[in-house]
Amino acid sequence: MRKKIVAANWKMNLDLNQGAELINDLFNGMPELGDNKLVVIAPPYIHLTQTAEQLAGMADVHLAAQNCHYEASGAFTGEISAAMLKSAEVEYVIIGHSERREYFKEDDAMLAKKVNQALSNGLKVIFCCGEPLSVRDAGTQNSHIENQIKAGIFHLGDAQLKNIVIAYEPIWAIGTGRTASSQQAQDMHAHIRNVIAARYGADAANNMSILYGGSCKPSNAAELFACPDVDGGLIGGASLKAEEFLGIIEAM
Ligand code: 13P
Repeated sequence: MRKKIVAANWKMNLDLNQGAELINDLFNGMPELGDNKLVVIAPPYIHLTQTAEQLAGMADVHLAAQNCHYEASGAFTGEISAAMLKSAEVEYVIIGHSERREYFKEDDAMLAKKVNQALSNGLKVIFCCGEPLSVRDAGTQNSHIENQIKAGIFHLGDAQLKNIVIAYEPIWAIGTGRTASSQQAQDMHAHIRNVIAARYGADAANNMSILYGGSCKPSNAAELFACPDVDGGLIGGASLKAEEFLGIIEAM
């Protein structure tokens, strides 16, 4: 049975004190999640060891990084390897976020290498895909997303695929307050599941968690998460305030 996941992507926000306070507030307000449901927190790198210590008492809350490098080690000043993340008790890593693709020129080939680094170091991957508004307006979003998924993960074997979560984040919905409608989300998530099924079979597709991201809030989360192929969310802005993020967790 596939997992329901609500994941926080803090992006480049919060200093160490603010991060500690937020985790503390989440700890105090966290509901019982029940079977097959989990929360993932992706703070900036500098928070990871502190957050790992804080999460030690929270069995349902897992730690993620927002990125890793595509090589194992070496002369890459300022970068962080997948092995370093593993040693910091990180369990998941976000790869392919549209902000990385756009601002840091991460292309499909680089993302596939990052996926390999993450998996070979025992990390699970939250692989992001999403179309810009121009693609949505042209009506070619399905092939756009299919191409991103093929390029990023289709080289993986069946066993490796089990460690992949997909996050569909339409770029026009990120940080804009303009959420995809639940129908738009459901249509794309069903498409993604079909794409996975065609390559890996129906069981693998049914077991894959596919998250929605883009202006997800307590007020729209329940409707989005009620869609049969939406298995939770990857949350940016609303993950920075305990009350809002807890509201989204409640919706799950
Ligand atoms: P917002 O929730 O702020 O729209 O961001 C979504 C996102 O990019 C999560 O990775």
